Amino acid sequence: MNLQLTEEQIAVRDAARDFAQNVLKPGVIERDRDQRFPAEEIKQLGELGFMGMMVDPQYGGSGMDTVSYALAMEEISKVDASASVCMSVNNSLVCYGLQAFGTEEQKQKYLVPLASGQKIGAFCLSEPEAGSDATSQRTTAIDMGDHYLLNGTKNWITNGSTASTYLVIAQTDAEKGHRGINALIVERDMPGFIVGAKEDKLGIRGSDTHTLLFNDVKVPKENRIGEDGFGFKFAMKTLSGGRIGIAAQALGIASGAYELALAYSKERKAFGKEISRHQAIAFKLADMATQIEAARLLVLKSAWLKDQGEDYDLASSMAKLYASEVAMKQTVEAVQIHGGYGFVKEYHVERLMRDAKITQIYEGTSEVQKIVISRSVLS
Ligand code: CAA
Repeated sequence: MNLQLTEEQIAVRDAARDFAQNVLKPGVIERDRDQRFPAEEIKQLGELGFMGMMVDPQYGGSGMDTVSYALAMEEISKVDASASVCMSVNNSLVCYGLQAFGTEEQKQKYLVPLASGQKIGAFCLSEPEAGSDATSQRTTAIDMGDHYLLNGTKNWITNGSTASTYLVIAQTDAEKGHRGINALIVERDMPGFIVGAKEDKLGIRGSDTHTLLFNDVKVPKENRIGEDGFGFKFAMKTLSGGRIGIAAQALGIASGAYELALAYSKERKAFGKEISRHQAIAFKLADMATQIEAARLLVLKSAWLKDQGEDYDLASSMAKLYASEVAMKQTVEAVQIHGGYGFVKEYHVERLMRDAKITQIYEGTSEVQKIVISRSVLS
């Protein structure tokens, strides 16, 4: 792996950093408090090309590599993980899924507006009784000849009320198990599709997370992605890349908290000197810097493998597992270094600590990543 970033990758990272610090940071505390989706900010991210980063320019995307995407995700997540989860789902799950497996018609109709940031997409796999055990889909897509009849409930859907295009995973033939599952493109205004309750969350409170209900929604056959029965593999393949995005998000949350703690420790004095000069704090900073760098290497390796066309399933699970655990652990340390200031909203680290938790849960819990990793090392 070449560890030297290209000029283009550095430019992307710097543009994302400028945007995060100058546009996202000013209102992030209020959006978290009010559970307000960063609608205007996401629109601007789309205009800058960050909502369809890896999509071919012929389909409205920016044509960048996965390493650039990971670098941008880290910078945005240092400041606003609610904005970055919207960006991640749109890029790695929805746009990637359509670009890699959609028909030309599906790409023209759905991918172009999503990749250019005019519309937002959502990925609908989780259900009340199918989280980690994703083959146990209760949502049904019954084959009616020229269309599927979609019925069921999806839970915890990112971009739930702001999306226009939803990729919905549903069971067509239960007897075939995971080979009877399909992925369908559902439009927001299809009759029978209802956006349900919004979740009141611990973290990423500015992101838009909803329950979705499907009551006899007629989805045309041409909206199925891939062959009949490809839906579960579609979800797995797509989530594998998604885990690179969430690993980069976790890395950003950890490094954002670390940068704040480092700066604070050089200013704050106690017992006659800056707290960074007390070994108790200096050693915490040493551990943070080391673990964050290790997480960064795993994230960049998984992104680089994807860019090389190599298998990245194992690498992306390792990156997500490790980066999310570093995010949780080191945001707690960042709050500790800030002392009482860390416990109040103004200093940002308490929000980053709350935001860190979801990175161990969504796009596969830490336990799911361990299933993927252990199966690989044991095979
Ligand atoms: N690529 C291609 N195919 C894959 C694959 C991959 N990465 N992983 C599995 N498959 C295939 C298998 O080969 C198998 O196919 P065959 O029978 O033809 O060989 C089939 O899929 C079933 O695989 P498994 O037997 O491994 O399935 P399993 O039931 O044991 O589950 C699991 C494995 C890893 C636990 C999987 O269910 C999983 O990843 N669960 C977590 C789901 C998840 O991440 N949900 C997140 C929701 S989306 C989200 O969070 C978005 C957001 O809002 C931010």
